Amino acid sequence: MKISINDEHIAECRDELLAVGLFQDQKRLSDDVAAVDKACGGMIKKVVSRGDFKAKPNQTFLLYPQAGLKTSRLLLVGLGKKEEYSLDRLREAGAGAARFTRDMGLASLCLPVSFGHSRGFGLQERVRAILEGMGMGLYVFREYKSSGNDNGNNHIKRITMAGGSPADMKVVRAEIKRAECVVQGVCLARDLVSHPGNSATPRYLASVARSMAKKYGLACKVLDEKQAEKLGMGSFLSVAQGTDEPARFIVLEHRPRLKKNVPTVVLIGKAITFDSGGISLKPAANMEEMKYDMSGGAAVLGAMQTCARMRLPLHVVGLVPSTENLPSGHALKPGDVVTAMSGKTIEIISTDAEGRLVLADALSYSRRYKPDAIVDLATLTGACVIALGNDATAVMGNDQALVDKLCTAGEATGDRVWQLPLWDCYGELIKSDIADLKNVGGRPAGTITAGCFLREFVPENTAWAHMDIAGTAWSKKNRPHVPKGATGVGVRLLIHMLEKWQS
Ligand code: BES
Ligand code: ZN
Ligand code: ZN
Repeated sequence: MKISINDEHIAECRDELLAVGLFQDQKRLSDDVAAVDKACGGMIKKVVSRGDFKAKPNQTFLLYPQAGLKTSRLLLVGLGKKEEYSLDRLREAGAGAARFTRDMGLASLCLPVSFGHSRGFGLQERVRAILEGMGMGLYVFREYKSSGNDNGNNHIKRITMAGGSPADMKVVRAEIKRAECVVQGVCLARDLVSHPGNSATPRYLASVARSMAKKYGLACKVLDEKQAEKLGMGSFLSVAQGTDEPARFIVLEHRPRLKKNVPTVVLIGKAITFDSGGISLKPAANMEEMKYDMSGGAAVLGAMQTCARMRLPLHVVGLVPSTENLPSGHALKPGDVVTAMSGKTIEIISTDAEGRLVLADALSYSRRYKPDAIVDLATLTGACVIALGNDATAVMGNDQALVDKLCTAGEATGDRVWQLPLWDCYGELIKSDIADLKNVGGRPAGTITAGCFLREFVPENTAWAHMDIAGTAWSKKNRPHVPKGATGVGVRLLIHMLEKWQS
């Protein structure tokens, strides 16, 4: 699909559908929309004044103007009340318009550059939200449908943004380029998560990382179990020992040429390609969902691809420790003690608290990069879903400035995050009688004690933040720009943070 821009007035648009946004209780039409309304004989004003179209969030209304416009379909898209307006409303509206066009089987869609214009949001962030919303909303995953990978009957060939000044057009053009990289990063993450556990294995993730590296100019190294053992990754390997599927520790590196002394940021993503719980087996109900236990790794792969394509002027390293967590005759058992790469010993209380075990060694491994900051993402605890539900990611860390960066990026992207404390009193809960640490601190504050456990493995004097995406990586709801299933959470958030990075 091509997204293009042109400077003709939207009343001149010849696309199969023209979409305009309206606010609820809007007193006056914006200049652009008023011109369209005038051209088609006041149809818009009529349906609004009669109350047929109330412009509620996500409401749409299709008109067939008889004359005056060059397009034959005019779609009114509701933006809700002005006082409740947000970039997420706009992402939803963009997604709504695109999905409407697709579902009608149409080939082209036009939106005015002024779509959703309102005081409070600048052109750049507004256009960004529309473009990301459209791209994310059109996502489908049909690879396992025997009817074929038909792209969900999407016949859209062209989307046009029309009617801006030359200066506006420049901004829009840059945003179109950016959106392509970002949306494809999000969709890559969603694809990886959507693939079932028998396809998206650690070796599969490694092959995706390798081909991405080749295509977009990243450095890629994949450690197998032997190499992990040489490095002393006893914690990571203890999870891998129960399955016959070989584990992989994936390393991707984006190192922009010419620039020296750029900050180094390490991104770490948990990639348990299926979490059965191991010997501490999970209940059968909904266990199939645990294919999404590699969403942190998927977000890191999506973000690394996007970094490379956008040529971000930072040194970014992606680490993706990947294995299955299965029970077997050689699986890890409760009560076992394992030694992590850092030398710390861990008493296993539950083999289902495996995410922190693979992340521990990834955190130790990151030391070699002398990072300015480390951010890890993981579907780490069910407790996080209890605490924050499905609408916010939990963030914790040892450096408030880094946590603040993530919170700011969360606000801007709609991948919202909320901070939890890592006070020392919580750290007491993971002290073991027999080893240095135990991998579970009981049910209270389960998300925080998991964070405290990870903190023990962060290289000294290094800023680190942990994001628990257990509640946000998978959506049971179908939102316009986040269809049911894998959300791709974290990709846009990480990219926004890296774009705004100042060391
Ligand atoms: N992958 C799960 C966490 C999870 C639960 C993610 C629900 C998404 C939805 C993780 O490995 C796990 O099982 N954690 C345990 C930890 C407990 C044993 C301390 C949990 O949350 O129950
Ligand atoms: Zn688990
Ligand atoms: Zn898990």
